[in-house]
Amino acid sequence: MSTYDLIVIGAGPGGYVCAIRAAQLGLKVACVEGRETLGGTCLNVGCIPSKALLHASHMLHETHENFEKMGLMGAKPKVDWEKMQGYKAETVAGNTKGIEFLFKKNKIDWLKGWASIEAPGKVKVGDQIHETKNIVIASGSEPASLKGVEVDNAAGVVVDSTGALSLPKIPKSMVVIGAGVIGLELGSAYARLGAEVTVVEFLDAITPGMDGEVQKQFQKILAKQGLKFVLGAAVSEVEVEKGKAEVTYKLRKDDSEHEIKAECVLVATGRRPYVAGLGLDKVGVALTDRGFVQIDEHWQTSVKGIYAIGDAVPGPMLAHKAEDEGMAVAEVIAGKHGHVNYDVIPGVIYTTPEVASVGLTEEAAKESGRKVKVGKFPFMGNARAKALFQAEGFVKMIADAETDRVLGCHIIGPNAGEMIHEVCVAMEFGASAQDIALTCHAHPTCSEAVREAALACGDGAIHA
Ligand code: FAD
Ligand code: NAI
Repeated sequence: MSTYDLIVIGAGPGGYVCAIRAAQLGLKVACVEGRETLGGTCLNVGCIPSKALLHASHMLHETHENFEKMGLMGAKPKVDWEKMQGYKAETVAGNTKGIEFLFKKNKIDWLKGWASIEAPGKVKVGDQIHETKNIVIASGSEPASLKGVEVDNAAGVVVDSTGALSLPKIPKSMVVIGAGVIGLELGSAYARLGAEVTVVEFLDAITPGMDGEVQKQFQKILAKQGLKFVLGAAVSEVEVEKGKAEVTYKLRKDDSEHEIKAECVLVATGRRPYVAGLGLDKVGVALTDRGFVQIDEHWQTSVKGIYAIGDAVPGPMLAHKAEDEGMAVAEVIAGKHGHVNYDVIPGVIYTTPEVASVGLTEEAAKESGRKVKVGKFPFMGNARAKALFQAEGFVKMIADAETDRVLGCHIIGPNAGEMIHEVCVAMEFGASAQDIALTCHAHPTCSEAVREAALACGDGAIHA
């Protein structure tokens, strides 16, 4: 048995990044992971497999919808589902093995098994107790359950996101419960693969918390792609009979009850922190009223020497937020200054077109009592987006009317998830909209639309 400076519990993007940074800073580090492979939810059953399916289904959509328009003639490909699943599995394996390599390279011990905390400085894995100066809880999250709905991923009829990534076949019809990020990403992937997809959402708009104009335009674009929406509807029950599901929901406006039948139901109504089996109550680690691990501004829990990060703590459930916290807490434990700027964490939905945002929405900026100006530029005025058949969206820049400082940006358009980062960097440097407007942007790129939106915060966009 060795004694460590740090034991990290969980090898998702929060945990593995924390372990690597701590080892780079000279600490003796172990990381406990109960799964067969490293990488957590993100690499195994989250970000990476979902992006593989989104990419493959996008390619299919291109061949069917856009190839002929570009003069690319010939037979339209059919889906070999097993092969597509193989491509997804290879993509995942390439990445999880990569983390294993990085652990070896940085001399991090992978303690295989499920961990519990016996006391501060003592982590039990299997029958062994390992001693450590510090513990970081990075145990992540799991799908939230929904009353009246029983998920059975193995049967493949009523599934959560994990089941939806590995369905036995492409269903002819699918009901998605919840118009959040998971529901829309996976719903749009299956719609492109041929399923008739209906999204049932409790609220009156899709993607809660996003900029209102983006929500509306996004819904319009997805509807054009064939997704049907039932908004303001609370699902009360899902029944399965002979391998088919019936979803019952009540419309909130008049309490009327309705049913939809489908071959598959994806329950995507949010995720909750996963802390089962860690023994937190035994050691006195406090939780919030929503079950997250409570932390202070240095990611330390209510017990000295025990820290927590990622999906297990409050904040957006995003891989890059977990990674940033992982790096920062490693710095803190190593006696340095760890920092995360929670005001500049981008969010991206990887549909086609992509939706990306950072900072305040127009609504939130106005609610904060500031005077704001909004610069908007449609991709219809962007040559590159038109060539890509993705000109239906826009860039919306929010700036402070008095100081011109950029407060937020919301993009719906091609590669929005890449483009948002120039605004993130600008915001980190406290830039004004004019700083972006005065920066030369290469032509023809989609990023020119970001500059145009910044110009629209001032004397006006050129191509609008
Ligand atoms: P996790 O990745 O959940 O890792 C926690 C790990 O801890 C797990 O491997 C678990 O097995 C292990 N563990 C738990 N308890 C113990 C224990 N007691 N002992 C040992 N090991 C333990 N985010 C994005 O930013 N971009 C995306 O595109 C994106 N796509 C997603 C798609 C889907 C379908 C899903 C479900 C999520 C997606 N997310 C995405 C969210 C992202 O996956 C999470 O925010 C991220 O994985 C959180 O990282 P984490 O390290 O906190 O936890
Ligand atoms: P979510 O919180 O994004 O969306 C859940 C939706 O379900 C909400 O719109 C909610 O109003 C609705 N809902 C809840 N109960 C309902 C009911 N009874 N009937 C109908 N609708 C109901 O959660 P989601 O999509 O499950 O994603 C979980 C987390 O995973 C998110 O917090 C997200 O951060 C992360 N994620 C991130 C991705 C990305 O960054 N691209 C991709 C996928 C997931």
